[in-house]
Amino acid sequence: MTRDAKAKGRPSRAKTAAALGGESGSRKGFRGALAPPRGTVHAWGLPGEAALLRQAWLRHAAPASGRFTHDFHPYAARMHPDVCGMLIEGFSEVGDWVVDPFCGSGTVAVEAQAAGRRFAGNDLHPLAVRLAATKSQLCAPTALHHFEARATHIARSARGRVSRQETAMPPIDDAEARWYAPHTRLELAVLWSFIERERDPWAQEAFRLAFSAILVKCSFQRSETDSRRVESRMAPGTPLRLFEHRCLTLGRGLGELNRAARRASRPPDTPPAPELSCGDGVAWAHGWQQPRTLVLTSPPYAGYYDYVEHHDRRLAWLGIDATEMQRGERFSRRDQARQSWPEESRALLTSLAAAAGSGGRVLLWIGDPLLDGHIVPARRALADAAHSAGLRWVAGVSQNAPRAREQRREEHVFLLTPRDIAQAA
Ligand SMILES: C[S@@+](CC[C@H](N)C(=O)[O-])C[C@H]1O[C@@H](n2cnc3c(N)ncnc32)[C@H](O)[C@@H]1O
Repeated sequence: MTRDAKAKGRPSRAKTAAALGGESGSRKGFRGALAPPRGTVHAWGLPGEAALLRQAWLRHAAPASGRFTHDFHPYAARMHPDVCGMLIEGFSEVGDWVVDPFCGSGTVAVEAQAAGRRFAGNDLHPLAVRLAATKSQLCAPTALHHFEARATHIARSARGRVSRQETAMPPIDDAEARWYAPHTRLELAVLWSFIERERDPWAQEAFRLAFSAILVKCSFQRSETDSRRVESRMAPGTPLRLFEHRCLTLGRGLGELNRAARRASRPPDTPPAPELSCGDGVAWAHGWQQPRTLVLTSPPYAGYYDYVEHHDRRLAWLGIDATEMQRGERFSRRDQARQSWPEESRALLTSLAAAAGSGGRVLLWIGDPLLDGHIVPARRALADAAHSAGLRWVAGVSQNAPRAREQRREEHVFLLTPRDIAQAA
């Protein structure tokens, strides 16, 4: 929030714009984990592969196209969707399996569906899996029209009820309730009561997630990735307007996704919803066995974020139990131990090699890890792990992706292949 807006008790322009356009991705600009990367882009490795990586990465320089469902819900450290789409197009073919063991809010899932690939993904955070599922489902146009009409109806009904000063009981305790101004809390509670009465299970889940998308904006939480409290004000009616906007964004995006998937001539036996599961990504990747798999994944950048904390505002409303995530989150900010890195990174790369299998490829999208307060170049940090996982470095692209006042820290996409395959090629 700007100092001026804070002094007047108004929400900042940035907060309002982000509320309408999505926290970390919009037509105006995309914010990834360390974004925006800047400085020289350098690509290395086999010339054809390096050129493809470079060409894809350069899309970072342009604003994200805002297509499909990418802007539906904020999520920290999402991939740039257009770069992701180009990587899928460049390194797999229609009908191939694309998998992401750390799928987050489903950027790879959405782009894989749009490109006619089969997708399977996993994340340890239940919210991530729910988002990925809703954002990547291929829905019939009639179902989407019905959904959009219901969203407008719910927002209008809730508005009527709020104006009559009728209350509803929110599913949050007093401590959580204090994160909202009284009138905002009332609007949210009334809205939630309508959502909970929705009879269509798919629409109800989509409404719940649209509601989730606006929660941080409606609360006193400073931003999606900063859980400090800021006493900002929101004009009456804004939560309902934001909710409806999110639903319409989802409906429009899913329509676009459905049309793209049809154009991509997906194999007729491909199901409309991708395979998604909730659990540890390393264990999941070990269990994956399909030929010609492209593993495209971005595990947490070591030492950067705590995904559990990011979604605190959402847990009670959505009935999410984050205990497993608290226990099993990998590479989080609260765990920067240099000692555990060799073992953790080996476990990660061994599992990705297993998932790629014979004839497969791994595209690892990663930032330089922060280990015990030191930034270490990712390729060097992963060298031993890649070797013992039987992976060969084929090509890579890198660019500096600094944060304010921070020393040089690069973001990369590395292409690796299981060693026997690379040698045979
Ligand atoms: C960089 S984010 C992925 C973002 C995703 N590519 C997207 O575009 O939305 C890393 C993800 O790893 C997940 N994660 C952390 N520990 C995990 C674990 N042990 N197993 C699976 N997922 C985990 C986090 O919940 C987070 O969603």
